[in-house]
Amino acid sequence: MTDIHKPAERRRLSMVDVAAHAGVSVGTVSNALNRPELVAERTLRRVRASIKTLGFVPSAPARQLRGGTGRSVGVMVRDIGNPFFSEVLPGIETRLSQEHLLLMLCSSSDSLEKEAYYLQVLEQHRVPGILITPAGPDISHLVELRGRGVGVVLLDRPGADSQLCAVAVDNVRGGELAGAHLLSLGHRRIAFLNGPSIVRQCADRREGLVKAVRAAGLDPEEVITEITLPALTPHEGEAALERLRLGGKGRPTALFCVNDTVALGALRGLESRGIGVPRDMAVMGYDDVEFAALLSPSLTSIRQPKQQLGQAAAELLLTDARGDANHWHQEIVFQPSLMVRASTST
Ligand code: RIB
Repeated sequence: MTDIHKPAERRRLSMVDVAAHAGVSVGTVSNALNRPELVAERTLRRVRASIKTLGFVPSAPARQLRGGTGRSVGVMVRDIGNPFFSEVLPGIETRLSQEHLLLMLCSSSDSLEKEAYYLQVLEQHRVPGILITPAGPDISHLVELRGRGVGVVLLDRPGADSQLCAVAVDNVRGGELAGAHLLSLGHRRIAFLNGPSIVRQCADRREGLVKAVRAAGLDPEEVITEITLPALTPHEGEAALERLRLGGKGRPTALFCVNDTVALGALRGLESRGIGVPRDMAVMGYDDVEFAALLSPSLTSIRQPKQQLGQAAAELLLTDARGDANHWHQEIVFQPSLMVRASTST
């Protein structure tokens, strides 16, 4: 059993050890690792033989990142229980692992206090950069963090209002796609299970839904019944049905849920009430996480390109964290797509 409190048996090897073993300067070892074209072939062989003999593992990628000396990058999501984020993470991890960087994963659980605490811990760990889905609308503290030399990229949130790099999906378009789909099926009473409007993704999806209703020449006040959920979970999705008139004339015939986990709960609630999907109520979600296609009925959803979102965010962070003089802040916005399945098919 390893006693984690016992000092490591072996000091971590450094380039100094390799230089001493090979009989060259530390600069020569650094060049052998990062710019071998500058080192004479014979010296290069000697250095590489010492690296092999000593079992030295260079951490060169971390040193290429500005500021932080750590080999980990912070990734802060809003809700680690939401499969959307667990499906974005592999894209991030794949790209960072190519730079031999690790993820320090935190979940703010939509708490500003938790977010602030984790940001402080990450900064104390001197991470060179942080990918973050902010818990609230105010991100001035992230701009200040960037000003202290920590790379910051907004994940799943547009950044035009902050000069920070950002990677997001066009959620207004996503809401519009959902609305247009349900309207095209003839639905004129749509219940929208949404999150708090301070959550940018929720506000944008609502904006898109309203846009689609207006584009159809209809009145959003008459078509949309919005229920605001305190959290985007299956439990709240099921509980929200209590706040809807599910029977009689004028009841909604379609349910648009702000994400697939909310839709999962709503489907369970409809089933427990004997309300058929899509016979009595069409249902659609958002994210198109893995389980959406596996449900019965399979869930119509708005697909977010999660793998690409993660990879692009990691790429942008590596650039931002390097602090290249010619790096300019950029915002990458991906487009969502409609995935029609049984839960809305007539
Ligand atoms: O974080 C809440 C939601 O916003 C997630 O389900 C995902 O849709 C994200 O974009």
